[in-house]
Amino acid sequence: MSEDRVTLNAVGSATELDLVPGTIGDTGIDINRLRSATGKVTLDFGFANTAGCKSKITYVNGEEGILRYRGYPIEQLAEHSTFLEVAYLLFHGDLPTGDELARFQSEITHHTLLNEEMKKFFDAFPKSAHPMAILSSATSALATFYPALQNPVDPYAVEQSALRLIAKMPTVAAMAYKKSIGLPYVYPRNDLNYSTNFLNMMFSLPVEDTEVDPVIARALDVLLILHADHEQNCSTSTVRLVGSSRANLFASVSAGISALWGPLHGGANQQVLEMLAQIHEDGHDYKKAIARAKDKDDPFRLWGFGHRVYKSFDPRATILRNFTHDVLDRLGADDPLLEIAVQLEDVAMSDDYFIERDLYPNVDFYSGITFRALGFPVRMFTVLFAIGRLPGWIAQWKEMVEDPDTRIGRPRQIYQGEVLRDYLPVTDR
Ligand code: ACO
Repeated sequence: MSEDRVTLNAVGSATELDLVPGTIGDTGIDINRLRSATGKVTLDFGFANTAGCKSKITYVNGEEGILRYRGYPIEQLAEHSTFLEVAYLLFHGDLPTGDELARFQSEITHHTLLNEEMKKFFDAFPKSAHPMAILSSATSALATFYPALQNPVDPYAVEQSALRLIAKMPTVAAMAYKKSIGLPYVYPRNDLNYSTNFLNMMFSLPVEDTEVDPVIARALDVLLILHADHEQNCSTSTVRLVGSSRANLFASVSAGISALWGPLHGGANQQVLEMLAQIHEDGHDYKKAIARAKDKDDPFRLWGFGHRVYKSFDPRATILRNFTHDVLDRLGADDPLLEIAVQLEDVAMSDDYFIERDLYPNVDFYSGITFRALGFPVRMFTVLFAIGRLPGWIAQWKEMVEDPDTRIGRPRQIYQGEVLRDYLPVTDR
């Protein structure tokens, strides 16, 4: 074996495979020639050992609990940055200068309105519609208003699509919410920053001015930063896979929203809150939840615990744990569910079942409690995750489109079905 190759001896003859190093973290074994050289393919459930791309956007080290966007530690970004600055960083690769940031913020601010035709679209959904279903459909529908922006290899079209998506997603989310509670839509305001404008569209009414608390707006901004990217997770991989067929950015992001909705991914934040509320209703019996999570015959999981990559702590959960207490203190709020969350965490962290399986709280464990403290209803939690993750999806999609090594995503399979059968007419079966 040379330093930049490995030899595979497992299939009769020796095959030399190139190594692809990262600047930090995993080194890949390039198996692009594997099937032609050996007649064999790899089998990797959940792609747990497979790098689907080379990327320069986000670095995660699950063993040491590290998360960096474009090299910047998440802790520094959460403390000093804003969500729009982070969105710029993810999209362009570097932090903006003052002028660049001002231009970017102005572009976003001036694209927050939806085409008035879209209102009819919201009206058509039942009142009970889950806002994630509306968000995904509305994102896909946005493509119909921008036929000129659908060429994925035109940098101008991509940038304009990205700006429109980041600008309009909070408007769509707030309209979906207002629809669900039967209240009138509130239009965006250009004098407000990104998070304040979203909170205003969510919670104010056309009949009176409501002042958004800056503590709440900053807390939301930090939450969005913490969710902004997480390399090749389920929804991001979906966005890349859909985009690899040259589907436009709106269609690709819409698919990502659907992937995020699942309870094993972004939908976990809703599940966590429902679980904590259930424990509260059951007279605070959190030990019952722990016992159920350990019972192999019970499908129940301790929502918000465990992560495919983080096998020590999730740095986002660590930031959020302190942040949540801080936000509750500053808002003068007291949430019994936070107490249950702390108890669950204490028990799980000292219980052999969770220790042996490296199950630590993930970002969803604390985000729900903070979203609740900020006044958001539980059904909007995964929508908030989607708004936060949007810049990451866009940056990853753009990187995929611009990478000359990109090919349409098309995994192989190990076929284990019937080999060959003759058709029998229905009367002979
Ligand atoms: N509660 C109880 N047991 C669990 C949990 C949990 N939350 N998570 C994993 N386990 C157990 C599994 O049963 C399995 O046990 P076994 O080895 O005895 O069979 C072992 O831990 C490994 O779990 P897997 O599901 O195989 O791990 P995987 O990497 O495939 O899944 C996942 C990771 C989906 C996040 C999982 O931990 C889970 O379902 N957690 C709860 C849902 C959740 O919080 N999802 C949000 C993830 S973060 C995000 O998407 C932003």
